[in-house]
This record gives sequence, C-alpha cells and structure tokens, in this order.
Amino acid sequence: MKGTSPDVEVHSSQEPWWRRGVIYQIYPRSFQDSNGDGIGDIRGIIDRLDYLVWLGIDAVWISPIFFSPMADFGYDIADYRKIDPLFGTLTDFDQLIEAAHRRGIRILLDYVPNHSSDRHQWFLEARSSRDNPRRDFYIWRDAAPDGGPPNNWQSEFGGSAWELDAATGQYYYHAFLKEQPDLNWRNPEVRREMYDVLRFWLDRGVDGFRVDVMWHLIKDAEFRDNPQNPDWTEDMPPHKSVLSIYSCDQEEVHDVVSEMRAVLDEYGGDRLLIGEIYLPIARLVAYYGRDLRGAHLPFNFRLIEAQWDARHIERQIVEYEAALPEGGWPNWVLSNHDKPRIASRVGRDQARVAAMMLLTLRGTPTIYYGDEIGMNDAPIPPERVQDPFELRVPGRGFGRDPQRTPMQWDNTVNAGFSTGSPWLPLAPDKDSFNVEAERSDPHSMLSLYRRLIAFRRENDALNLGRYASVEADSCVLAYLRETENDRYLIALNLGPEPAVLETPGQCRIVISTEGKAEGEIVEEKLHLQGNEGVLAEMMS
Ligand code: NOJ
Repeated sequence: MKGTSPDVEVHSSQEPWWRRGVIYQIYPRSFQDSNGDGIGDIRGIIDRLDYLVWLGIDAVWISPIFFSPMADFGYDIADYRKIDPLFGTLTDFDQLIEAAHRRGIRILLDYVPNHSSDRHQWFLEARSSRDNPRRDFYIWRDAAPDGGPPNNWQSEFGGSAWELDAATGQYYYHAFLKEQPDLNWRNPEVRREMYDVLRFWLDRGVDGFRVDVMWHLIKDAEFRDNPQNPDWTEDMPPHKSVLSIYSCDQEEVHDVVSEMRAVLDEYGGDRLLIGEIYLPIARLVAYYGRDLRGAHLPFNFRLIEAQWDARHIERQIVEYEAALPEGGWPNWVLSNHDKPRIASRVGRDQARVAAMMLLTLRGTPTIYYGDEIGMNDAPIPPERVQDPFELRVPGRGFGRDPQRTPMQWDNTVNAGFSTGSPWLPLAPDKDSFNVEAERSDPHSMLSLYRRLIAFRRENDALNLGRYASVEADSCVLAYLRETENDRYLIALNLGPEPAVLETPGQCRIVISTEGKAEGEIVEEKLHLQGNEGVLAEMMS
C-alpha cells in the first residue's frame, strides 16, 4: 500500500471506516483564519482539529484549497498540485494531514476534474493556436452556421456555455464560468494527467476525494442540442430551461469514474471516493458503478431538495433504499456550500429534528460546517456580494454567499473567526449561536449533534443496522434501525403541532430533541410535541 495514514485508528471490524463514520464539510475560506487576512486557511483548520475531535466526527472534506484565481472561489484551479497562498503552503498541508491523522481524523480533498481555470497552463497553451498539442485538452467547436454558439447548452451560472475565442476563431465549452473551461475527458492524455493529480495527493496521505460535478465529465459525442424543459418557470435558474440530457450524465462517464476508483484502490481499500451528483435516484445510483467499481458514495441530496413533509421524505427514503445496488452504501446530506442551510430552510426548531434524521438514517452523514450550531443563512448587503452566480444572475435568490459566512466560534471580535476584516459578513445572531455559548448548554444544537454523533458511533443498529419504515400520522416520520440484537425507534414530528405515534411495542426514550424525560418508558403511544424528534430503544 502506497502513501501513509499512519496514525488513523482503523476500526477492528471488517466494515470500511466510512460506513460507520461521520463526514464534516469545511468551506476553508470561512472556517478559521490564522493570519488576520479575513480568509480562513489551513493553519486555522489545524487549530480547530481538537474541536472536531470533541464533536466526534471521523473525516473532514475540505472544499478546494488549490492554486486558483478564485473566480469561483477555488473551483477554478490553475495548478492542481499547488496550495493557494491564501490558504497556506504544501508544508502546512502536510502538517494538517499529520495533525489530523494523529487525532484519528481523515482528510478528504475536493477534486475538480470537470474544468480547470482559464489560467491553467494547459488552457493557456490550448488557446494559443488550433494546432497546439494541448488544444484537445479542452472542448472546442466551430460556430453554428449563423455564427452563434455551436449548440444550446447553458452555463449553470447563466447564459450560453460557449465562449468564442476570437484569436483562434472557435468556441470553447464551459459548464460554469467562462473562466472555468471544461476539460476533454474523452482525451486519454487528460485522463492520465488527472489521475496523476489524484496520486500526487494520495501519496501525501489523503484519505479520499469528493469529486466535483461528477455527472458532467463526459458530454455527448455529437454535441446535440438539449431539449427544452417544459416544466421550467421563471423562478428556476436559467440553465434549467433546457434538460441537460446531452451535456451531462453520458454512459461513458462510468468508465471514467471506475478508472478514478482504480487509482484510489492502488492505495489499499480504504480511500474513499465521493461523487457530487445532482440526478434523480434512478440515474444517481448508476454511479456506484458496475459491480460497485464506481464511487463509494454518490452524494445523495434528497434531503436538500425535498419539501419538508413527512410522507414525501419517507417516500424518498424508501425509493432510495430500494434503488441502491446490492452492497451499495447509502449516504445523506442536509446542507452544503451551494444550497441554503437547513436551519434557514426549515427553521431552527425543525433543524433539530433534521439533525436527528441525518444522524439516524441508514448511511454515512455529511455535516456542513456550522449546521451543528444552527447557523442560518446570513443576509449579504449588495455591496458585499462575492458569489459569481449572484453577480451574474442577481436578486433571484440563487446566490451562495449567505450559506458561506464565517464559522461562529465565540463572542469575541468576528466571532473568533478572524482578527482581520472577514471576506463575508458574520451572521447577526453570532453572539447567541456559537461554539463557545453552545458547548456548555446541554440543550443547545451543538450538544444535540454531539450526543447524536456519539450515540450513533456506539450503536451498530444506528450506524450499520437495517432501516424499516413505521406507519405514522401525516406529519410524523417514523422508522426503526435494527440489528439482530438491538432495535431503535426514531419518531420525528416534522410539524409544529403535537402528534401521537402508535409505537410498534414498548420502548424507552433515549434522546429527545426537546429534552423529554429520557429513560421514560412508553407503552404504546408516544406523544410528541411540535417539532420534536425522539430516539427510543425498543424493549419488546
Ligand atoms: C459544484 C461546486 O460545489 C460549486 O460550488 C461550484 O461552483 C461548481 N461545482 C463548479 O465547480
């Protein structure tokens, strides 16, 4: 086995670590600034590792920290092997790996293979002339007969996905900003180069990757127009006006994913491959790959996209469970740096219920930094907007700055995030909702997260056990998690009114999001307050 992860404690059981583990996403610009420039950095993450140990998480996924002009805040990479000076140095990174592993925390990097920055050396060469050897590293097409873009494919940040390169007279394709030209994954040389990038970081000891927009990697070989979306309405992002059936999710993408997986497997079996994929369930599960040789965890965004309704969510869970390939391991996500935070979507009371859901469903949970303290999306005054999506499609609520504001650590200046001037404003509720204030309060969101994480870790029924739905009234979502030896009932009231659940037998309350008498025995009727979630041990 190549690479090192010497001090990571590996579970004694045969289960891969990530089945039992909890993942925590760090948006590095906003986690902890160590040098006063107002932008979070690697040393800041190192300084906060003990917090993550205390919280009980197993692995950290860090959004991109590579050399970048920051047109899309690091998702535009100009050198895949270099740390951006804003975040630190390669030495800092090596120290992060060492310090994290010493504490039993694994490090997952963000791998952005679909596109590079337009300042990447490859693109500079590619655009220098039509016959440059790197030309075919990117996707070039002639203009349509009318002189316009080659087809109707749309950029996810608004407008055509094609940019005319006047010097060479062809268009290049960019699924996101024009500063993010798409790499041509049909070119074997691109694959070779990009797999070596994986090896470069694996050799430094990283434990896996979250792969950016995995379903975008291969495009239709004939570049056919996407069909119009008959369900598109003005309140949806502009690119959704067409159905991206030709620009995304092509069959050949699965060869690429299995090749990436094979690179990870060169390093032993415990390196984790996660794919960012926004697709309906049936298409999503294909990313586990033939014979499970694809992504270990194609990210499941059901809870991000679902209406917050018990029956609807139950259907999503059941459909997802049923669609999983045999042996495919599920996973759940509540928030990320691209979507509104859970507390803002469902309210802080209901976010406690959501936390219980995330940490008791079958599958690996990913927690977005700050959700564990109940952070809300913060208002961003127009003059402080940073997100290129908001700048290009303003005032429509698509901007992603509100969910990227600095982590709230304490009630000192800038909530302990930075001694300088933070790149985004702090949320106005930072003095009430921060790690310091919540750590000592047994009823806080943070205490709830910590208890749920610890309980999940200690109980196989919760981390590895089977899932079974329990019939419940309209606003209650109820299910069992069970092994041969233990059974737990989870009853979640997704509404504000009290509700009653007929339990499938006698049970004993273990955790209530509302502090209900723990240890109380419930015979057959479990009375839930509005917005209450209960985890109970089945006695019969
Ligand atoms: C998905 C990332 O999560 C998002 O933040 C980014 O803007 C796009 N991919 C482009 O890389």
